[in-house]
Amino acid sequence: MKILVLNGPNLNLLGTREPEIYGRTTLSDIEKGLREQAKEAGVELEFYQSNHEGVLIDRLHEARGRVDAVVINPGALGHYSIALRDALAALDCPVVEVHLSNIYRREEFRHHTVTAAVVSGQITGFGPLSYRLGLAAAIELARSQRKG
Ligand code: DQA
Repeated sequence: MKILVLNGPNLNLLGTREPEIYGRTTLSDIEKGLREQAKEAGVELEFYQSNHEGVLIDRLHEARGRVDAVVINPGALGHYSIALRDALAALDCPVVEVHLSNIYRREEFRHHTVTAAVVSGQITGFGPLSYRLGLAAAIELARSQRKG
């Protein structure tokens, strides 16, 4: 089983970017933890970050029919990118949207994500734990989809 974990704009700066909101954990710390979690679950993990909308969309196209689930932190793109939303809608596998911060407790413009309607579910507000929970959910969903 293969799971793609995709990260959008500015998430490469985790650890130093607004640490009062996002904490001090870096993206490579998160990747390391998820790789251990995936290994324990016997799952193959692909982990990727880009600051470019089109690159993320290309990566999703390339994942179609090839991965069993996607975990995505779309960053700010989740709030407005219809193109990213459409690329997620074109997938036929479970998709879990994750956010480190609780987007519903922050500025009004973060309360809405255009991606929400096309993902299996959202996990928001648990810091790096959002990713761990997201990966656990993605694995469960992919396993139950496989069983049909
Ligand atoms: C974020 C929340 C978004 O509103 C923000 O633009 C990000 C990070 C989060 O993980 O909390 O870049 O997706």
